[in-house]
Amino acid sequence: MNPNATVALHTGHPMPVMGLGTWQLTKDTEETVQAALGLGYRMIDTSSDYGSQPGIGEAIKRGGTDRSSIYLVAKVEEMDDAYDATRRYLDELQTDYADLMLIHRPPPTSAGEQLWSGLMRAKQDGLARDIGVSNYTTGQIEALIDAGGEMPAVNQIEWSPFGHSQAMLDYCRKRGIVLQAYSPLTRARRLTDDALAGIASRYGKTAPQILIRWNLQRGTVPLPKANQKHHLEENIDVFDFAISDEDMASLDALNERYSALGSLPYE
Ligand SMILES: NC(=O)c1ccc[n+]([C@@H]2O[C@H](COP(=O)([O-])OP(=O)(O)OC[C@H]3O[C@@H](n4cnc5c(N)ncnc54)[C@H](OP(=O)(O)O)[C@@H]3O)[C@@H](O)[C@H]2O)c1
Repeated sequence: MNPNATVALHTGHPMPVMGLGTWQLTKDTEETVQAALGLGYRMIDTSSDYGSQPGIGEAIKRGGTDRSSIYLVAKVEEMDDAYDATRRYLDELQTDYADLMLIHRPPPTSAGEQLWSGLMRAKQDGLARDIGVSNYTTGQIEALIDAGGEMPAVNQIEWSPFGHSQAMLDYCRKRGIVLQAYSPLTRARRLTDDALAGIASRYGKTAPQILIRWNLQRGTVPLPKANQKHHLEENIDVFDFAISDEDMASLDALNERYSALGSLPYE
């Protein structure tokens, strides 16, 4: 595996095995995204409420990386008209398609069937290559499918050794849905955990590198956010080692349903 490696979505399209999160990059977005692309990051995750779309658009326009080799993930919000919002967000990103457009979170009183049909139309019209969901339970995904919707390509949820769910992973595998891991570094809150630090030191790696590698070996797709250049470099330097089966099991066993954001969104 290397930074250009991909996972296959059920539609047959490839998606990079890891990406860059951009929540709270704010004014540094353009510079940080340019640096990330230079280091070999190929997937960028954004949302209108991160404020990072214009900076990402500028970084892609000014950087030396072809749009076709960059994988852009964007999201529609619960109050949006999904089709119109997709067009608007693409304008901000200065591009004419998203590689993946997600429903950011299910609306409070439905599974978002209306948003989903807007995204299906956006896909048909070429505004999005693939479509998916975020913060969805298995039941909410089933409700979308039962309503005649197509199978989401991705569910993007909070995911780390400290907070994950075998049942969700089994469900996604059974349905052919790729699980994207947000807040994969626990928003830096659990990086000094003793067990994690112990495993990291045995591999001569850092705690964030172990958290990212744990995802890569499970086939889940981490989206670590980093503003600082040395963090960007460290987080993509994860392709020269492998965690043993035994240590993978020890990392799995750290699960305490921990959520850096308050509660796991899919339980
Ligand atoms: N769909 C959703 O509802 C949803 C929700 C939350 C997040 N997300 C997405 O997932 C992305 C990642 O999640 P996140 O931003 O919540 O948190 P995260 O990636 O778990 O953690 C980011 C924090 O870790 C620090 N960090 C990064 N690399 C590090 C390293 N090597 N050593 C030490 N600290 C390091 C960063 O510091 P610096 O920035 O200072 O480098 C930042 O403070 C978001 O940016 C967003 O794109 C999606």
